[in-house]
Amino acid sequence: MNAMANPTAQAVDNVLIYIFGFSLLLLLGITVVTIYFVVKYRRSKYPEPTSDVQHSYVLETLWTVLPTLIVLTMFWYGWTNYTGLREVPDNAFEVKATARMWSWQFEYPDGRRTSKLFVPVNKPIKVQLVSVDVLHSFFVPAFRVKRDTVPGMETYIWFEATEPGSYDIFCAEYCGVGHADMTTSVEALSEADFASWSQPQQPSGDPRGLVVLTELGCTGCHSLDGSEGIAPSLFELKDQQRNVLVDGKSSLLTIDADYLQRAIRQPNAEIVDGFDPMMPPYDEATLSEEDLQAVVAYLLGKGESSATPQINARELLENNGCLGCHSSDGSESIAPTFKGIAGRQITLIRDGKELTITVDADYLRRALLTPNNDLVKGFPGIMPAADYLPEEEINAIIEHLLQQKD
Ligand code: CUA
Repeated sequence: MNAMANPTAQAVDNVLIYIFGFSLLLLLGITVVTIYFVVKYRRSKYPEPTSDVQHSYVLETLWTVLPTLIVLTMFWYGWTNYTGLREVPDNAFEVKATARMWSWQFEYPDGRRTSKLFVPVNKPIKVQLVSVDVLHSFFVPAFRVKRDTVPGMETYIWFEATEPGSYDIFCAEYCGVGHADMTTSVEALSEADFASWSQPQQPSGDPRGLVVLTELGCTGCHSLDGSEGIAPSLFELKDQQRNVLVDGKSSLLTIDADYLQRAIRQPNAEIVDGFDPMMPPYDEATLSEEDLQAVVAYLLGKGESSATPQINARELLENNGCLGCHSSDGSESIAPTFKGIAGRQITLIRDGKELTITVDADYLRRALLTPNNDLVKGFPGIMPAADYLPEEEINAIIEHLLQQKD
């Protein structure tokens, strides 16, 4: 872990270094003395065991008092820093974190909900931790805070980000098959950015139902693109038929608004064949009637934005699986990130030669339709051509990407 200059990390790191330092010093000291005695009093030099050593009050007092003092300072230092981790500064900004299988949800004082934790820098943040199902553990390594979330119990942590940035959040308690994916991040924003983030949001263009699905973390288990993992996909549900188990009996039903409402309010009453009953019920406290209707309408392909048939490029990227390889947060593994792609200088490999260009509409069109003609240096040629998309969707994606500035 790298050194972090934030209060909670410093409290933990200082104690760690103090205790580790003394332990190392003692280990080295004792080892050196042991080796010295082994050599000095070896059998060939002293064939007969003798004990003509007199005891020394000075030495005995020293080796009793000194370690006692060291251990007591370790305790005192650890205790004061630990209590510092539990005493939240008065001016802290409060956010509520809800853990469920398998997502985190954050709720702000103004009622807004997100799946990433947005906070201002240089302000203590108190995170109230609750779990609606099983044991989870809220862990942010960068701030050295980790706390179990226990069903039926409320607990908290606090931290303060001193630099804007993205800090990983993990679930650190095994909580079922989706445990490893129960990750998100703290997004620390500068005061100005946080203030503008806190403004009442202009409608994002996404249908309300999709916004709710994302906020509640539903998409952590239910894909929107037809792929099925631990939960049924939410792709094109309207009029689909599914086998569901009710009271141990399997029956075929057609997906409609009634079924979807039941599946959200009492998910375990009817289980889709082949899946385990593991979805937590969403009661009215978590999901208002109005939002429920929005979700159902969205799932049945009747998102309210359909009044003006607009292509949602962000959704296209998600539904076509682009975001599986291209991140939107700047991280890069197998494909270039979309973050800041507009106007970016990139190096291409063409016919074995390097070529630097600026990303523009022309380039993006080529990259979508014939992705493997020009490869971005350092990435493998694995992208399938998106030439199956209609022209207007290609255009919408290009337009959307050209807005991705740093
Ligand atoms: Cu939640 Cu592990």
